[in-house]
Amino acid sequence: MSHSSVRRPFIAGNWKMHGSVASNAALLAALKAGLAGNAAEVAVFAPYPYLDQVARLAADSRLVWGAQDVSRHDMGAYTGEVSAAMLRDFGCRYALVGHSERRGLHGESDALVAEKFSALAAVGIVPALCLGETLAERQAGETLSVVFRQLDAVLASHVPALLAYEPVWAIGTGLTASPEEAQAVHLALRAHVAKQDAAAAIGLRIVYGGSVKAGNAAALFAMPDIDGALVGGAALNADEFLAICRATNV
Ligand code: 13P
Repeated sequence: MSHSSVRRPFIAGNWKMHGSVASNAALLAALKAGLAGNAAEVAVFAPYPYLDQVARLAADSRLVWGAQDVSRHDMGAYTGEVSAAMLRDFGCRYALVGHSERRGLHGESDALVAEKFSALAAVGIVPALCLGETLAERQAGETLSVVFRQLDAVLASHVPALLAYEPVWAIGTGLTASPEEAQAVHLALRAHVAKQDAAAAIGLRIVYGGSVKAGNAAALFAMPDIDGALVGGAALNADEFLAICRATNV
């Protein structure tokens, strides 16, 4: 059986800290118009202030959407934080946790990422757990030990359904892991989850992120353990993002 018949491709745009009411509306309208007939599940991860706008504009479409982060706390005096229950309150189904920009720029530890994962899972939001090594770690031959360490922090309490492998050196740099390099890590991640839950590992969607573009997407998606993409820069352009979505139809 090919991987596409076991796992529905997941293509997600991580908008990061980009967007405006006007540009979001235009982008979503173009995506809705362009997605007809596409087999992938297509998601956008929008900044908090725009989630309600995205929810409303996506409501009559097959676009799904999510948040880019969440608080580890349930409620209370945590100025600036957003809880999983708040996200759930207006229909959020997915959220990123452990993006390298949160780990690297905001000092998020594996333990904190695992707490955020648990907070999301507790309210029924699917966490998209982001993993990936830095260039120095790859050059030191530590890629698998790093991503296993990041995964193990969550596996201690939950079996994830959605992983995003994003080598830090490939994010926003124009450098993409080759399909073979990415496939090797995805295969290793799936095998690692299989040791804990073999059935879950077969259904586990592992998407790749890091300079995915229309021009390199199809070669990545042809790999048996690459189940889609988490797209940054190219997700802000409707034509480019739609072309990436169409690249799953191979
Ligand atoms: P780029 O596609 O801009 O490299 O970003 C990848 C990413 O970080 C998605 O979460």
